[in-house]
Amino acid sequence: MAEFELLTLQRRDDDVAVLTLANGKVNALSRELLAEIETAVDELVADPPGAVVITGGDRLFAAGADISQFGGPDEAAVIGAGFHAALDAVAALPRFVIAAVSGFALGGGCELALACDYRIASERAVFGQPEILLGIVPGGGGTQRLPRVVGASRAKEMCITGRQVRAEEALRIGLADEVVAPDALMARALALAAEVATGALAAQAICKRLIDEGVETSLTHGLQLERVGFVEVFRTDDARIGVASFLEHGPGNATFTGH
Ligand code: COA
Repeated sequence: MAEFELLTLQRRDDDVAVLTLANGKVNALSRELLAEIETAVDELVADPPGAVVITGGDRLFAAGADISQFGGPDEAAVIGAGFHAALDAVAALPRFVIAAVSGFALGGGCELALACDYRIASERAVFGQPEILLGIVPGGGGTQRLPRVVGASRAKEMCITGRQVRAEEALRIGLADEVVAPDALMARALALAAEVATGALAAQAICKRLIDEGVETSLTHGLQLERVGFVEVFRTDDARIGVASFLEHGPGNATFTGH
């Protein structure tokens, strides 16, 4: 396993992996932290857990790109590439990835949360794309993933004003999927991850891929993809186990292998 300096990667007995950002007081997503995230995701892909939780600090999930590394267009090209490589890797993980957001998730922090499959926010969480206040635009997927989650008009309003969105509003606009009390955040994220981790993991991976590919394409093409995926899933052990278990013992009693 790689050594990390700016994050921790914990593999728990319940098959949940927890990636915790640990880069100083604001968890700035520096080039180095983005590279570590990519390496950590590579490790998770090579030996997949049952589910993943990504979290940050108590008061700050992450304050975005490391502004001290900004320069001109040449630096921007490198920083943008680093963001896309790391966050696309997170998004493509063939497992359910939960962001547990406590405190500020700004700029790249919000974009990292958006690259996850599901966002659980503490009541103290604050989301935003404040790049415009620096005279720039989001570069870690914010202009693309945010509108896909909250709709184009709300995304434009958020990105063009740089306004911060508190947890309750985030829940209302679909940016957060759940809001919980601050001291319940990790317990809820870990419980959901642990529940998912006992599921039919190969089928989950197919399901995630179909949904992600489907929202990128036309309904007609998406339905074609689903037809292929629906056949593919019947080649898994868990499809055989799940269907047989239902017929014998009723719903919800299958013990899956993850294959
Ligand atoms: N990159 C680099 N340094 C950052 C940073 C970032 N994204 N965000 C904060 N910092 C630094 C501050 O410059 C400050 O440094 P200092 O202690 O050497 O003065 C330190 O982190 C603490 O920040 P501060 O603003 O004093 O803390 P706060 O608790 O009052 O506010 C935030 C925290 C995150 C709300 C605020 O720092 C902020 O809005 N940060 C910028 C977010 C942003 O624009 N992100 C998009 C980047 S493209």
